[in-house]
Amino acid sequence: MAKVIAIANQKGGVAKTTTSGALAAGLKKKGFNVLAVDVDPQGNLSDSVGADNQHEVTVYELLKMETTAKEAIQKMDMFDIIPANIMLAGAEQEIAQIGKEQRLKEMLAPIMCDYDYIVIDTPPALGLMTINAFTVADDVIVPTTAGIFAANGIGQLYDTIKNVQRYCNKKVKIAGILLTKYNPRTINNRDMKELTEQLAQYMDAPMYQTTIRSSVVVEEAQTRKTDIFSYKADAAVAGDYAAFIEEYLKGENK
Ligand SMILES: Nc1ncnc2c1ncn2[C@@H]1O[C@H](COP(=O)(O)OP(=O)(O)OP(=O)(O)O)[C@@H](O)[C@H]1O
Ligand SMILES: [Mg+2]
Repeated sequence: MAKVIAIANQKGGVAKTTTSGALAAGLKKKGFNVLAVDVDPQGNLSDSVGADNQHEVTVYELLKMETTAKEAIQKMDMFDIIPANIMLAGAEQEIAQIGKEQRLKEMLAPIMCDYDYIVIDTPPALGLMTINAFTVADDVIVPTTAGIFAANGIGQLYDTIKNVQRYCNKKVKIAGILLTKYNPRTINNRDMKELTEQLAQYMDAPMYQTTIRSSVVVEEAQTRKTDIFSYKADAAVAGDYAAFIEEYLKGENK
């Protein structure tokens, strides 16, 4: 059975997609079978791996039960992916039946044994797509930048996960909070790191020891539609993500 990891934070631009891509690519490079699922109508993860989200079926058709997971999967160099596009923005209204929170879980069930890990990239909102991701997830990883507003939203996110735990998926938990786009040189960020650590304590979720440094390499790799490990394995930020993956895997066995 695949372990399902949702990457979530309703705050925009905190590196959810970047972390999803790095995690999926890093796990694949370690020899695991990895599927990424893009449930963000922006389709950023799909674009970043060069998936065809214009002519092929996407997660939109999957959630509407017009296709199967097997049909929707695209096998890319970096990892397999079920892509998304802007059509998904309408899905919230279109899937209005009972069980709408369970739809992704239901549709992924037939391929659960084909993968070791399924990584889900979610949109910057706590709507139906993110709830669907939490309903199928074992672990939630919360990337956050060292900004006061980024930290603020975490309470709301916590409540949403608690509700999903209560009504839809007992096993889901916050695996950890990951500080991204981090600049250790600025004092303000250091203060924020302390604050985020306090928040992690309040949320009863660990803060990863590893922090992901800010680096232009991230955008360079994304522009070239490749992952940071293939692009520049010796870059500091690639090392950060590799260390984060090791830390995540270590935490799994606890
Ligand atoms: N470690 C980093 N260093 C520098 N830039 C980064 C880093 N991580 C991400 N970025 C950049 O920050 C921007 C936002 O990242 P990303 O798209 O991963 O965030 P997101 O949380 O998925 O955003 P959204 O909420 O819109 O989905 C992108 O331009 C990305 O290239
Ligand atoms: Mg994103």
